[in-house]
Amino acid sequence: MVEVPSDTLARQYRQPVFTISDTRSFWDGESAVICGILGILGKPDFRLLEIGTYRGCSLVQFHAMFPAARLESLNILPKQARDGETEILPREHIGAYARSVDVQYIQYFGDSRSFDFSGLGKFDAVFIDGNHHEEFVLSDSMRTLGILQVGGVMIWHDCTDRYHLGRCVQRAVRRLPFAARIVKVQGTTLCYYIKPIGPMQARSRIRTVSRNLWQTEV
Ligand SMILES: C[S@@+](CC[C@H](N)C(=O)[O-])C[C@H]1O[C@@H](n2cnc3c(N)ncnc32)[C@H](O)[C@@H]1O
Repeated sequence: MVEVPSDTLARQYRQPVFTISDTRSFWDGESAVICGILGILGKPDFRLLEIGTYRGCSLVQFHAMFPAARLESLNILPKQARDGETEILPREHIGAYARSVDVQYIQYFGDSRSFDFSGLGKFDAVFIDGNHHEEFVLSDSMRTLGILQVGGVMIWHDCTDRYHLGRCVQRAVRRLPFAARIVKVQGTTLCYYIKPIGPMQARSRIRTVSRNLWQTEV
């Protein structure tokens, strides 16, 4: 993993005022960094999939950062929780805060370890913030890699050595086959990865560029 200082990424935006007290959203200063990481995408109407909705505070933050962003979020239902799941909410509470302040998003229900992502199409951003145990984070990261666009960004929250579940996330992130390309943002619990262009896409882009050059010369 490479490390970058947070001030190289922080991008200010008008922060929402929360009318509920909830400690499970972003820490102070982290939201500006998330805004900066999502800003790398270079388009305001990106499509983002979140794993772990909880009450929807992070969705409210994403909407405040990029009002045109298309937000979708997955959360497990109590009846699907079998082992090791944490922070289980009744169905009607999942995302309820986002809905109460009129943030538009698509809610999916399911266990991220078995949810069928294949019909959803591609996303510009994936935010991993579901169950923080190591095997869940590994599974969530690998299972959503295929639906992340080339040039898209995957972000992990709570990746830190400061508390137990943060260390679980950190261990998982370090075990990923693309760990060497993951960036840790110093002073935050955030890590991110930009999906690089693969050899197939590179070849096709070279072909397009050569064709365009050739046509220009003629
Ligand atoms: C840390 S909270 C998410 C916080 C939210 N992103 C925010 O910042 O406001 C984790 C959420 O993941 C959900 N969760 C836990 N295990 C899950 C699983 N296997 N699949 C999907 N969601 C899961 C929990 O029910 C909980 O709502």
